[in-house]
Parts: sequence; structure tokens; C-alpha cells
Amino acid sequence: MTILVTGATGNAGGAVVQSLAAQGIPARALIRSATSLPTGIEPVYGDLNKPDTFVDALAGVTGIFLLSGYDRLEELLANAVDAGVRKVVVLSSSSLDGELTNAVAAYHHATEEAVRVSGLDWTFLRPNSFMSNTLRWLDQLRAGDEVRVQFPDVPVSTIHPRDIADVAARALQGSADGEVLRLTGPVALTPVEQVAILGEGIGRALTAYPMTRAETHAALEASMPAPYATAIESFFADRTIDETTVNNTVTQVTGHPPRTLQTWVQENARLFG
Ligand SMILES: NC(=O)c1ccc[n+]([C@@H]2O[C@H](COP(=O)([O-])OP(=O)(O)OC[C@H]3O[C@@H](n4cnc5c(N)ncnc54)[C@H](OP(=O)(O)O)[C@@H]3O)[C@@H](O)[C@H]2O)c1
Repeated sequence: MTILVTGATGNAGGAVVQSLAAQGIPARALIRSATSLPTGIEPVYGDLNKPDTFVDALAGVTGIFLLSGYDRLEELLANAVDAGVRKVVVLSSSSLDGELTNAVAAYHHATEEAVRVSGLDWTFLRPNSFMSNTLRWLDQLRAGDEVRVQFPDVPVSTIHPRDIADVAARALQGSADGEVLRLTGPVALTPVEQVAILGEGIGRALTAYPMTRAETHAALEASMPAPYATAIESFFADRTIDETTVNNTVTQVTGHPPRTLQTWVQENARLFG
């Protein structure tokens, strides 16, 4: 068994690499530039938008951990079939709870549909927002102890990327074929509660400023293309998706409960130093 991990330098893919390495499962990390990888993980260079750049990396691969939303996916999947790959685990999202016309849901849906008809076995992971999104507050925290939070009244059961990775590792070893796994963290917390947990974990007296919808709208529009800003506003302000409900899928698949935000903060406190 050899696994190809895409997004290997990111929050989710990086956790998949760590999980596979910890279990001694041979894996290749698709990367775009040199980086340090755990012992036993082989670097392979390529661009996810250009499947011809990593055809050779597929030789001997049995499973792929695949990020959503990249170009020329059909070509990548055909290359995978030709190389003898058996299984693809797609990192999709909770956005598929809602309207497929939503810009974020649309690219995840397109990826899932291409994989469904590829002839490969598959598992689709649809996680809630990641705990690692807390890193988006870093700039504000360098400037002071106040964090401006979007959608202050919406509790979200954010998920630790290591839990996504542990589920992915199981699926890449053959479990959950043909299953869509909706993944949540252990408890729903408002952004204000998340800031309090972060402050306690990093030893700072943080306060949360609850942004109005108009402020949130302006901030989203300023930070990403308009269709994505609209998509995210609809998820949480209009509640077109549900990231509040907690389920036990992580426990069922991995045998351990989902990790808490307190754990994520403890593991990443140095980044907020
Ligand atoms: N954040 C959330 O709350 C959330 C929730 C549900 C689903 N998701 C999905 O999860 C995905 C991954 O999230 P994340 O937080 O792990 O992202 P991330 O930390 O930003 O990592 C993205 C990874 O993709 C790689 N990458 C980007 N463009 C590439 C390309 N053209 N070719 C090869 N590699 C490329 C990056 O490599 P480099 O280091 O070379 O840039 C990096 O390893 C998101 O894109 C989204 O689709 C996220």
C-alpha cells in the first residue's frame, strides 16, 4: 500500500501525512517546493492543476487523499485509473448540506461527481470548519488583545484537522467505501467562546468584538472573490448550512472521540507567541 497525499503542506493534508507516518503506512507527499516531511514520507513534486506534472508519482499508489476544486480533475482521475490506483478519499465540505449553486458547494460538488463516475472506489469527507481557522486571527492578535469575530451568534462544532486525518487514514486503508462522512468536532462553540478558549490557552486576556452583519459582509468582500464571500455569508448569516449539530462519526470511524479546541490551542500555542 502506498498513499499519495495532496495538500501535504496544509492543515488537513499535513495532518494526513503525520497520521500515515505515525502508522507506518508508506506515503508520498505532493508538494510544490521543498519542505521537511516526517521520516518515511517521500516528496513528489507537482501542481494539482496540472495532472501531467505528477503522472510518475502515481506509480504503485493504491490510494489518494485529494483536495477539492482543482482543474483538469478528469485527467488526474484517468491517470490514477491507468496507474492502478484503487481508492480516492476526497476532502469535500459541509457546504454540500446546502444549495449546490453556492460557489463553494459548486466546486466541491463538481469534484465529488467526477470521482463518483471515475470507476475508483471513494469516500467523501464533509467536515465542518477547521479549528485551524483560528490562525486567521493571528494578524489581529499581533496588534492587540481584541479579536473581531464574524457571525458572533453562530455556534460551530469546529473540527481538529488531525481528526479529519485519522478518518482519512482509515478510509484510505479500505473502510467507508462509497460513504459520505459528515464530520464534526466535539462541541458547538460561538466565536466569542472560541476566543475565550484561545485566550486561556495562550495566557492572554483576549476580548471578542462581535462584528455586525454589515461589517462581516465588508470584511469578507475585501478578503476574497465576491462569489465566495457571498457563499460564506449565506452559510452562517442565513444559516443555509448546519455546522452547529454535533455527530459521532469521528468516534465511530476512528474509535476515539474528536479532539477539543483546547487541545488544538495547546498544540499550536507557540504560533501565537
Ligand atoms: N478551512 C476550513 O474550515 C475547511 C472546511 C471544509 C473544507 N475545507 C477544504 O479543505 C481544503 C484544505 O484546507 P487546509 O486548511 O488544509 O488548506 P491549506 O492549509 O491552505 O493548504 C492547502 C494545501 O494545498 C496545496 N496546494 C494549493 N494549490 C496547489 C496546487 N496548485 N498544486 C499542489 N498543491 C496545491 C498547498 O500547497 P503549498 O504549500 O504549495 O501552497 C497546501 O499544501 C480547503 O481548500 C477546502 O477545500 C476547508
